[in-house]
Formats: sequence, C-alpha cells, structure tokens
Amino acid sequence: MSDTAVLKNSQYYIDLENEHGAHNYHPLPVVLEKGEGVFVWDVAGKKYYDFLSAYSAVNQGHSHPKIVEALVDQARKLALTSRAFYNSSLGEYEKKVTSLFGFDKVLPMNSGAEAVETAVKLARKWSYEVKGIAENAAKIIVCENNFHGRTTTIVSFSNDPDASKNYGPFTPGFIKIPYNDIQALEEVLKNDAPNIAAFLVEPIQGEAGVYVPDEGYLKQASELCKKYNVLFIADEVQTGIARTGRLIACHHEDVQPDILVLGKAISGGMYPVSAVLANNSIMNVIHPGQHGSTFGGNPIACAVAMAALKVVEEEKLSERAEELGKLFRSEIEKVIEKTDLITKVRGKGLLNAILINDTPESSTAWDLCLALKENGLLAKPTHGNIIRLAPPLVITEEQLLDCVKIIEKTILEHKK
Ligand SMILES: Cc1ncc(COP(=O)(O)O)c(C=O)c1O
Repeated sequence: MSDTAVLKNSQYYIDLENEHGAHNYHPLPVVLEKGEGVFVWDVAGKKYYDFLSAYSAVNQGHSHPKIVEALVDQARKLALTSRAFYNSSLGEYEKKVTSLFGFDKVLPMNSGAEAVETAVKLARKWSYEVKGIAENAAKIIVCENNFHGRTTTIVSFSNDPDASKNYGPFTPGFIKIPYNDIQALEEVLKNDAPNIAAFLVEPIQGEAGVYVPDEGYLKQASELCKKYNVLFIADEVQTGIARTGRLIACHHEDVQPDILVLGKAISGGMYPVSAVLANNSIMNVIHPGQHGSTFGGNPIACAVAMAALKVVEEEKLSERAEELGKLFRSEIEKVIEKTDLITKVRGKGLLNAILINDTPESSTAWDLCLALKENGLLAKPTHGNIIRLAPPLVITEEQLLDCVKIIEKTILEHKK
C-alpha cells in the first residue's frame, strides 16, 4: 500500500490512537483533518457540519482567517516569555478583556479546569483575608450534576461517578445543592453564611445535558450571595463568548458575577486560553508567587484571544446566536411533532440539546449520532440519551435550515 493510501484510511488513525493513546475518550469514528467555518472534512475528503464546535470552543468557526493571522504573526515574533518578564501583548489583552467584560482585573490561565481551580483558590483566599473566615474553614457551594473540569479538586465536588471514582482522597470544603433550586441555596446561606466563601455555578449546565435554569434563578442567586457576603462565581467556560445569545449567559438576567471564569471560545478554539476576571477588592488578594502558570498570559494566547474577541464583536455573534437559536428550536419543535423518537429540544442561543426517547443506557443516541455522521453532520451524545447541538456561531440561516433537514431525515429514517 502506498503512503497516500495509508494516510487516507480512517481506520489507520483510529488504530494508532487506540494503541498508543490512553483510552480516556470514546470518540465518534470519524477522523478529521481540515476545518473551515462551520465545516470539517475527514481524511477521505467527506465534508460535515460541525455541530459540537469542540464543546463550544470554536464559536468563531474553524480556522477563522483573522484568528489564524494573529496566531501566525505572533508565533513568528515571540511565543513565550513566561511571566518572569513583561511582554508587549499581555497588557493590551488584559485591557481589552477587562473592559469588554466589565472587571478591574484578569488572571490569565490556559485550560478551563485551571481557570476554575484559580477561581476556587481566589475565593478561598478572599474569604480568609477579606471576609475573615477562620483558616481552613471556608466552604464553597456547588450544584449537583455540575461539570467544571477534571482536576482532583474539581472532581472532588462532582457527583458523576465516572469523573470521581477511585480518584480520592478528595478535597474537602464543598457543599452540594440541587441546581436551579433557590430555596436550597438560601437554606445553606441562612445556616452557614459566615463560613461560606462562594457559590460556584454554570449559568446553563452544558455537560449535564444543556439544563437551562428557570428564569430569574441566576439573578436571585446573585442577590442572595450579595446579601450574605458570599462571592457569586459564574463558570462560563462553555456558555460564554456569545454561545447563548449574549456575551456571557449571565447577561440574560443582567447579572455581573463577582468572579467570571472563561475558556474555550475566548481563543476561538485556536489555542488553550482561559481567564478569571474579578474586581480589585477580590483579585488583589493574590500577590507575586502565590499563583501562576508558565504558559498563562503568553504572547500567542494574548494575540489570539484579542483577535477572537474582535471577531465576536465584528461579526455580531451574540446577536446571531440569539436569533438563529430561536429559529433552530422552533424548527426542531416541528420535527418533534412528526416523531416519537425525540421528546424535547431545549437550550439558549446556539447551545441546544434534544432528548431521545430511550433510556440513558440505550445506544439510541449514539446510533443516531452515527447516522447523522453518515448524513454529513457531527454531534455527540451526552449522558446517554441527550444529544447536544452546538454549531459554530458563524453558521448562516441557510446552513442552519440545511442542518435541520439532515437532523429531520436522520430521525425519521431511524429504526430502533
Ligand atoms: C462549564 C465548564 N467548566 C470547565 C470546563 C473544563 O474546561 P477544560 O476542558 O478546558 O479544562 C468545561 C469543559 O467542558 C466546562 O464545560
């Protein structure tokens, strides 16, 4: 077999990953080698709509030319200095990101999980040094079915057994309450507020299956936090950067979190960039040597994130997500009327999910994703019987309607 023939064979790459890589993911059997806008191509040249967007990282579309240009230009000039020295990109980026999101300061990191870790550390430090909680007594309230990443501390407050089993001993100091339950939050705050540093919440629970809380939940939660002098931390790693129809999902309820956690699409998925934003009264508790990362705030990350945020503004991605999201859900509602295979569509902006009429243990959602792939659309099940549908926000109305047709055809043709 010639080299070219080998390179064109998907199974070759799948076998390579299976043999040499840890089996910590269960990918759909498709091997991608190219992306542009809303499309990706596999190694055999087949074209697909991307309806996952790398878990909402590629909001600006694959290989956006302005983001690629920023990456290449900066890589040619200066890639990494560490924070041992100043660099000529970081300050400009910090100014841009803080003014865009309305905070005094930003702490730059790389992955979403690192940014959540940073927020947890920041809230704890604030609670000891500003709020006056006794050393090591601070607690953070989190929600059941949360997903905040994969570090040891973060999986300590996960209730997904896959995420936490056999990774103990776990970090203490977290109280779990049901999501979207304002009474539960108030109860804990009433009983224990003097020992509570923060409430950490996803404005929509993405990984759990795109659970949208009741209207007013975030507003009420943030007001309760204010009342009890507890920090409201919004993890917008998945919901942020225009995905739900606002720059951050908290803006749907005019909520400004005390600590904002961003990742994924802050770089358009071009580079691992994450950020923690807060005002001086909180951020100033961290002093030199007390937190950091070799790559956090590196010149490429800063240049890429600045370009990616500019694209969000220039191409009005929030407005597009809001408008197209409404259209998408109303079109899928029409499909639901024709089938009993899906029972519900839910979401905000272009972060949506359909619920499959079968048990989480069934293979129906997975089989549907395989059939969608055959029909030219890539999506992935979450929690067994839910399929998240989240295309890049640069999708046009025409493309979106084409995708609805693919989804409808696939569902109506599906045999259990
Ligand atoms: C809400 C939320 N927080 C944190 C993370 C972790 O981000 P990363 O995978 O970049 O560590 C994710 C990833 O999906 C997420 O959805």
